Amino acid sequence: MFTFDGRPIPTDGRRTIAAALLAAGVRSWRRTRIGDRPRGIFCGIGICFDCLVRVNGVPSQRACLVLARPGDVVETDDDGGERA
Ligand code: FES
Repeated sequence: MFTFDGRPIPTDGRRTIAAALLAAGVRSWRRTRIGDRPRGIFCGIGICFDCLVRVNGVPSQRACLVLARPGDVVETDDDGGERA
């Protein structure tokens, strides 16, 4: 189990954060700065950067590449890592 914005999400430690979120029914986890549009997974291979999340306090992590480990704290990262 890891948490996404406080919500418990199942993980076996072998799938990415994006895969775990999709399996839990979460289809978007970020909003664009311009237009406030929802974003989640797009390319799925680390190229588009649409899937950014904050993982254990580290901003701008690509959810499609980072494994979801039990105990991880994953948060939305709408500010692109510019949190004070
Ligand atoms: S979905 Fe494109 S970089 Fe993650």
